[in-house]
Formats: sequence, structure tokens, C-alpha cells
Amino acid sequence: MFLRNAWYVAASIEEVTDKPLARTLLNEPIVLFRDRNGVCAALEDRCCHRGAPLSLGWQGERGIVCGYHGLEFDGAGACVHIPGNKGEIPERLRQRTRVRSYPVFEKDAFVWIWMGEPTIADPSQIIDCPPDDPIKAPRVHGMIHIKASYIYLLENLMDLSHLSFLHKNSIGSSADDSANASMDINPTKTGVKFLRLMRNATPSNASKQRHNFQGFVDRWSEFEFVAPSCIVQWSGAVNAGEYDKGVREGGESNRIVHTITPETDKTCHYFFAMSGGYGGAEATRKLAFQVFREDADMIEQQQIRLDGYDQSRLVDIPSDVARVQMNRYLNRRIEEESRMASNAAE
Ligand code: FES
Ligand SMILES: [Fe+2]
Repeated sequence: MFLRNAWYVAASIEEVTDKPLARTLLNEPIVLFRDRNGVCAALEDRCCHRGAPLSLGWQGERGIVCGYHGLEFDGAGACVHIPGNKGEIPERLRQRTRVRSYPVFEKDAFVWIWMGEPTIADPSQIIDCPPDDPIKAPRVHGMIHIKASYIYLLENLMDLSHLSFLHKNSIGSSADDSANASMDINPTKTGVKFLRLMRNATPSNASKQRHNFQGFVDRWSEFEFVAPSCIVQWSGAVNAGEYDKGVREGGESNRIVHTITPETDKTCHYFFAMSGGYGGAEATRKLAFQVFREDADMIEQQQIRLDGYDQSRLVDIPSDVARVQMNRYLNRRIEEESRMASNAAE
């Protein structure tokens, strides 16, 4: 089950063009396209006539034309042209020829989509992506398709102890530094956040390559989970002893938004937007894809192992506290939403 009354990233902005884009989101087939005025729209990817995917059609005068028998729909899902029908669509057909449309909103690098009740879609709830960055480092964004539940990726991001193992050759600190990290975890109105701090730690290999650290570093990770599927990250490293003096700039600094959209129950789209410290855009993009692919490869295998498995048999360890709070918060929101939906239906 998914939280439906929420904004999810449907696509990177440059993916949505005059050519229709087919994408499955939360198990629903969606077509994204731009009309002739450049306005972005999202419709159910199923024509009302014979059910052909609208994504096999093309941009028309007023919206998108179905590639099978030529019905045309505007961005709100209204059928505006039926071949052979003279003039306006007859009143008796208006409702039946409508296809579902979804609210969309373009912000920063992404096109966001609201998958729930359209009347309560409020774009002001969409987070900044990436978050404000005082040093204005180069920004990059991207997407990785993952054959695993979005939950496993959220869990990966809420338990950073994996850095010392899965990413030991790139961004991981030593296992000892990781084991000694302090964790400060706090609930928020929209999820949970934590500060993970390693003082006097060995810099990661990636950090050593890109920055001029002479010895040990203070390394911090501020992560905020914003339900249902965004994680806002600010992490970095400064020379040992500087963190407690309030120094945050001059060493490593990464501001990242991870925003994960379920495709199906067992697959997801991992979007990310980041301002890449002091390493430059290309180096940042390369490192991001390398590290995030390491995560993706592991959770794809985890998905296979856990498929059909009784997860109550799995064991929690000390590093799981933030992850468990994230799971609980999200489950609670999903349960609340489905309870409200069934009350409304009664
Ligand atoms: S299926 Fe779309 S016009 Fe016939
Ligand atoms: Fe990771």
C-alpha cells in the first residue's frame, strides 16, 4: 500500500517533452506530456475508446492524440476531438470520454505528481530540491530505476551504518568510526530526522581524493525523512575539532534530496538532486551514480531474498533506530489514510 495524498516525483523536467512519456507510478500507468504551449500534464495512460496506451500517440492541437483511432484529450483529461464527430463532443459523451488526469507541478529539477484526491493537492507542500546551498555548488540530478521496493531504499538511507561496508571503498568511514558514531534522532511533523556525528574519524577514500584533509575529520550527516518518500540530506566533513566550533564549510559538504517514487510494489524510481560540495558537477555526478548504484545492487538482491519471506523473523540492531521510526511513521500515515478512505466510502 502507498500513501496516495502526497507529491511524488514523476520525472525529471527534461524527460517531459512534446513526445509522450509512459511511466508506471504507484502501480498506475501514466502518460506525461507537454501541450503546444509547453504546459506539462499527466493522464491515465489508457484511452477511453478501446484502452490503447495514450503514450503511443503524439502531441496534438489541444493536447495528446491517441495513436490508435485518433481521439484527442486535453491536459485535464477531457476528450476534445472524436474523428468523424462533427463539432463539439455531445454532452452525453463528455463524462464517459474523460480520462483521469493527475495534478502536476514543476519545481526545481522535477515534475511532481499528486496521486490522491486532486482537490487537496497543494504545491506549497513540495520540498526544495536540492535544499538551499549557501556556497552555490554545481547542481546535478538524476534517476536510477531499481528493481526493489521503495521502502528498502528509504531504509537504506535511514541506516548509515551500511556506508562502512557497502561503500567502504568510496564514501564509507572505518567500521570502528561508524560504530562510535553518535546519533541524535527526533520526530518531526512530517517524519523523523537524525544527526549522525563522527568526531576524529578517518576521512573516506572519496573525501581524501577530493579534499585536502591532513589528518582526522569530524564527519556529520543530517538526514530528514519527509513522508512518504523524500529524504533531505546535508552531510560533510571538516578538519577534526572544527565541528564543535561551528565550522561547516571549507571541507566536504553535500546537500542532497533523495526522492523515491514507487513504480510497483517491488520496483521504484530513485530520483536525486544534489549540490555537489566542492568537487565540481561532473565528479559529483560520477560519484553519486557509483555510490547509489552500489545501494541499488544490494537492495535488488535484498528484494529477491525477502520476496514472500516473513519479515518478522528479521533482527533489529542498534543502528536501526532511525529506520524503525521511519517505518512506523510511514505505516501510521498509510493506515490513517486508508481508514479515512474507507470511512468516506461507507
Ligand atoms: S483506442 Fe484510442 S482512439 Fe481508439
Ligand atoms: Fe548507501
